[in-house]
Amino acid sequence: MSKAKSDKVSPELDTPTDLPQAAVDKISASLNTLLADAFALYLKTKNFHWHVSGRHFRDYHLMLDEQSDAIFATTDQLAERVRKLGGTTVRSIGQIGKLQTIKDNNESYVPPREMLRVFIDETERRTWFLFEASRQEGGNEA
Ligand SMILES: [Fe+2]
Repeated sequence: MSKAKSDKVSPELDTPTDLPQAAVDKISASLNTLLADAFALYLKTKNFHWHVSGRHFRDYHLMLDEQSDAIFATTDQLAERVRKLGGTTVRSIGQIGKLQTIKDNNESYVPPREMLRVFIDETERRTWFLFEASRQEGGNEA
């Protein structure tokens, strides 16, 4: 699932850990991919929030805003978990673009039902990745 290994940690950012470096790299890479996907899904959901149309506009508009807030709320925990493990985390939109597995949606128009289908699919996929990452991390703890 991970596309990139974590980079070397500057001595000033070194965090004590009992984990072997290979585990730090592997878990950090997984969490950083999840973090990049969180930012990508956040913006994708905001995109849908801003561009939704149709007779259920108000309900969908508000629901997508609530969901984007919930997605954004996960970012700090993911990033700080990487730092706590001894890794480094994302630093830029460019890095997010390289790590994300969620595809951007730049269509000029997306029907509301298609927006909801895409959102549900991405959320289910993300939930599975979070489950796998937590299993991976749990498997590396003594
Ligand atoms: Fe808004």
